Amino acid sequence: MTQQKSLSVYYSRKGNNYVSGSIVNLPIGNTEVIAKKIQALTGCDLFQIETVKAYPVDYMETTRVSQDELNQNARPKLAETVADIASYEVIYLGYPNWWGTMPMVVFTFLESYDFSGKTIVPYCTHEGSGLGNSERDIKKLCPTAKVVSGLAIKGSTVGRADNDVANWLKKLDLIP
Ligand SMILES: Cc1cc2nc3c(=O)[nH]c(=O)nc-3n(C[C@H](O)[C@H](O)[C@H](O)COP(=O)(O)O)c2cc1C
Repeated sequence: MTQQKSLSVYYSRKGNNYVSGSIVNLPIGNTEVIAKKIQALTGCDLFQIETVKAYPVDYMETTRVSQDELNQNARPKLAETVADIASYEVIYLGYPNWWGTMPMVVFTFLESYDFSGKTIVPYCTHEGSGLGNSERDIKKLCPTAKVVSGLAIKGSTVGRADNDVANWLKKLDLIP
């Protein structure tokens, strides 16, 4: 195993969220928890995808806004850009499952850079739908990247997912 320069990129929406049947206020989003575990395990850099326009605080309103975005195949604008993405060989890509795939801003992100020859390592947090169509969508958006087999983690279990994350990365030969 050779050490490759890697970046943990994630989108995560903190605040009101639906967890195992009720609305709770998450000070740190579920996907962010996993993105930081990956950073701790691999020593990679970290980048948070953020939209210029914030989603509503209310969970149900966010589900409506995001469903419209999906139906319109929208590309919400990115608030920040990654410096020197060309220098990274491995991109860990984390997102919540929204309507069976990634939030549309992750589509924007994947279309904003050239991922040719890079390895994309996808994972999502979800409330029952797993990775949904996301791996297929990533492959469509980044046809010249190597997209490896992703990991799905139930949002309510992120606090105890350390072993699952470490075992997945070991299996992919990304950590010893
Ligand atoms: C707009 C929206 C749509 C969602 N759609 C789905 C879905 O289709 N399937 C699913 O399993 N979970 C769905 N969820 C639940 C999230 O995937 C889950 O709570 C996730 O862990 C949130 O991650 P975050 O805190 O990093 O944003 C949705 C959540 C939101 C806010």
